[in-house]
Amino acid sequence: MTSKLETFIDILLVALVVLGPRSEALSFSNWQKKGNHQSMQHTRTSVVGLVLATSLAAACVSGTQTSTGGGKKKKGPNEPVVIGFSMDTLKEERWQRDKALVEQRCKEVGAECEIQVANGDDAVQTKQCDNLLTKGVEVLIVAPHNGQIAASIVEAAHRQGVPVISYDRLIRNSDVDLYVSHQVVKIGQMQAQYALDHAPKGNYVLIGGSPTDNNALLLRDGQMQVLKPAIDRGDIKIVTDQFAKEWKAEEALRITEDALTKSNNNIQAIVASNDGTAGGAISALPPQLVGKVLVTGQDAALDAVQRIVEGKQTMTIYKPITPLAFSAVDSAIKLARKEKVETKDKVNNGKIDVPSILQEPLVLDKNNVMATAIKDGYHKMEDVYKRVPKDQWPKQ
Ligand code: BGC
Repeated sequence: MTSKLETFIDILLVALVVLGPRSEALSFSNWQKKGNHQSMQHTRTSVVGLVLATSLAAACVSGTQTSTGGGKKKKGPNEPVVIGFSMDTLKEERWQRDKALVEQRCKEVGAECEIQVANGDDAVQTKQCDNLLTKGVEVLIVAPHNGQIAASIVEAAHRQGVPVISYDRLIRNSDVDLYVSHQVVKIGQMQAQYALDHAPKGNYVLIGGSPTDNNALLLRDGQMQVLKPAIDRGDIKIVTDQFAKEWKAEEALRITEDALTKSNNNIQAIVASNDGTAGGAISALPPQLVGKVLVTGQDAALDAVQRIVEGKQTMTIYKPITPLAFSAVDSAIKLARKEKVETKDKVNNGKIDVPSILQEPLVLDKNNVMATAIKDGYHKMEDVYKRVPKDQWPKQ
């Protein structure tokens, strides 16, 4: 808004400078006194000029901006861009990495960054974004708590010519400018395929994430694409198929307990959508089933990777966060400077095909933990194997 106001004032000033020498013509008494034709002409030109300038300025103030934020001044290459990053939560370890990496990248490239965390509250997230806009951020990166509700954040930002990047989770039904994430449907497919490869027959439990998070829905799509033929063949049976509110481990625990009761403790695989829910599911298993029931996950969180090397959780999906966070910051700077962002993917959000940058996920299990998360420095070997006797540690 500040810059629209500036534009308005700039145009008015220009108008006054241009019209300055004639401005006495605007006084009604002067107009009456002069009375000659030429001065009438000048006066008319001046009035028309001022009206035009004013309307132009007014248009700049009220005009809705498009996704490229056309109302703002083009950023000079050496001026620091001010980025606002609105996060839903820091609950899962991965979000702490996202935050640290966004901060790190901003420092590296000389951008200013203001981060707000909504702790799972939509009203708080909306308000925090309003505050960031009021403070004058030039681009917003939003990891939405609720993908539908966050559409209003995009509208508010666009009214001020501020572009918005949807981070990790898609903002639905909006003209959001860019989506940066991992290939979420593929993650769901990988989880289900891993389960099917290692437990090709039997009873399955599906534990989804928060139903207000678009990722939870995409994951379930991916999982079902793989599981459906096996269900149709009668190879596997879905005992329970539920979503864990707010991705809560306690919800996953409850869902697993119900499934155990329903199936008389006869479960072969639990397709949990992330590591938090995997942890909840594992804590519901009676000791004799821990390590016997296949459990999937996502995030390669430290406690999950520890469970994997201990044999309690079977796999997780490792999503490197550095390329995600860095691509968000680098793209944010380009959007703020009105430069083109190269994208290869598109994801439909119910309103538009959103240009997208989607990173590759990887399967992580006890066989490749060294070659993936540990090799990358995502986790330290001594942390991962902390609960495993030292003589059983892999050779480095
Ligand atoms: C993210 C996951 C995360 C989950 C819970 C999802 O949208 O993609 O990485 O575990 O939210 O925060």
